[in-house]
Amino acid sequence: MHNWNDEHALQIIEDCANAGHVLTTALRQLVDCFGFVDDAAIAPLATHFLRSKAEVYGSIQYYSDFRDQKPGQHVLRICQAESCQAVGSKKITKFVTAKTGISLGDTSDDNRLTVEPVYCLGLCANGPAAELDGQPLAELDEAKINKILSGISS
Ligand code: FES
Repeated sequence: MHNWNDEHALQIIEDCANAGHVLTTALRQLVDCFGFVDDAAIAPLATHFLRSKAEVYGSIQYYSDFRDQKPGQHVLRICQAESCQAVGSKKITKFVTAKTGISLGDTSDDNRLTVEPVYCLGLCANGPAAELDGQPLAELDEAKINKILSGISS
């Protein structure tokens, strides 16, 4: 993941707009590159995709794949959608937040871990599901997630 760079971000935005992509494609590429969308990108995104700044900001807030803050070194996204809730994702979430001291949507003080909600990862038959740094995690229980968290903190 790169540090935010206005020039590089503008190049991504222009390339997406010139290729005829939609706003969400540019947001996806910015998040893939920098891990988040800095406020500095809102105005150029609005200009290039003919949206208001409020619409751009709204898209970033609406989709759980996008964020407006730099994430930690690792990102754990825990599914909060119905199928996973039915098999214990709330319990897993509570366990993670208690063990790490990180609230859902926040990053640890040492910037090592961000814990985020996500609303379905397509693993509904194998919940509770989550994703660590883009890698799927299925059929989680406290023992499994505890082992994963230990791996992150070591
Ligand atoms: S509801 Fe959790 S993966 Fe679909």
